[in-house]
Amino acid sequence: MKLRNVLPACALAVSCLLGSAASTAVAADFSSHKTAVLYYTLAQNRIGGDDWQQEHPVGNTEYLAQLIAKDTGADLFSLVQVKPYPNDYDEVTEIARAEQQQGARPELKEVPDLSAYDVVFVGYPCWWGSYPMAFATYFDTGALNGKTVIPFTTHEGSRFGHSLTDLKAALPQSKVLDGFAKRGSDAQDEDSAAEITEFLQDLEL
Ligand SMILES: Cc1cc2nc3c(=O)[nH]c(=O)nc-3n(C[C@H](O)[C@H](O)[C@H](O)COP(=O)(O)O)c2cc1C
Repeated sequence: MKLRNVLPACALAVSCLLGSAASTAVAADFSSHKTAVLYYTLAQNRIGGDDWQQEHPVGNTEYLAQLIAKDTGADLFSLVQVKPYPNDYDEVTEIARAEQQQGARPELKEVPDLSAYDVVFVGYPCWWGSYPMAFATYFDTGALNGKTVIPFTTHEGSRFGHSLTDLKAALPQSKVLDGFAKRGSDAQDEDSAAEITEFLQDLEL
């Protein structure tokens, strides 16, 4: 279902009463934009045995990415590294910390071409207070220059950490809007859909 179909009736009524100037303040209108959701999730960047895959069929950030795409009609893209992380969680955290400290640029399997899009949701798990370095690889390409970027993250307590500062520094030629943060262990609960819809309705593009 597209976001424009789920606007509350009262919001539409207020918008009609106040005229078109009010409607932009009521909700984002994605129908007049070409929108993409670009996300990263550990589930797609780990070697993953059968047991692990069964337990984690969809990553937390991926789950929110799918909700956003469903509500806005956006196209979905993900970043996947050439070299996957090991299955051991502690090892992943140590490798990720070293990558961040070294300013690594992990090679990507594919570099999504978002040239046709003007609005891009950028979703990542909070890693050591920032985004996984695969995003740094992508940002370096300049692919998001001139676009409106809407961040979202899943985390286990840090919310965005310092990632929004990092994001704005890495994307000086993009317009970065306020984002959406959700605890990863709650991200796949059923109330996430309503929270995402509310977040999208409040956005002013
Ligand atoms: C390498 C690594 C570093 C992490 N660092 C943080 C952190 O700094 N702060 C935090 O709140 N959560 C941290 N987490 C937890 C993840 O952000 C959280 O589990 C997230 O929901 C995972 O999303 P995903 O399933 O899409 O990969 C970290 C997880 C990993 C694997």
